[in-house]
Amino acid sequence: MELQSCVKILNEWDIVAVRQLGRNVAKELGFGTVDQARITTAISELARNIFLYAGQGEVCIEKYYVGEKTGVKIIAKDNGAGIADIRKVMEDGYTTSGGLGAGLPGVKRLMDEFDIYSKVGEGTEITTVKWLR
Ligand SMILES: Nc1ncnc2c1ncn2[C@@H]1O[C@H](COP(=O)(O)OP(=O)(O)OP(=O)(O)O)[C@@H](O)[C@H]1O
Ligand SMILES: [Mg+2]
Repeated sequence: MELQSCVKILNEWDIVAVRQLGRNVAKELGFGTVDQARITTAISELARNIFLYAGQGEVCIEKYYVGEKTGVKIIAKDNGAGIADIRKVMEDGYTTSGGLGAGLPGVKRLMDEFDIYSKVGEGTEITTVKWLR
């Protein structure tokens, strides 16, 4: 059984592809349509940030089993410029691109677990999980 699949984010079509992959995995795991929408929105936001701010990177979707719990784990990683002030980018409305600045705080709200690791000059890795209820 394939637990993890990754999509390289090089252009805008890859954002569509990884979103579709995420929807299929969420469906397979038994997530309802509302949670499927939350998960695919989170995936799009993370993939779009990679495309916009890092140029390229990768998003992996994983079927995640811990004890009795089942979830979907999304890992978004890039070797871009990184984020200097993580606290700031997690505030609603903070943007460096004239966007809404809603992406990352939105992902955190839509998902159950959210971890961000970033180092200036090295890149960013965001891991987020949604548990099946
Ligand atoms: N992968 C990344 N690498 C470098 N910087 C990033 C990355 N992802 C986000 N950022 C920085 O964090 C800021 C906030 O991201 P967030 O997704 O919350 O908002 P946004 O992309 O500016 O706007 P929105 O997503 O609402 O269109 C971005 O403006 C950018 O400066
Ligand atoms: Mg964004």
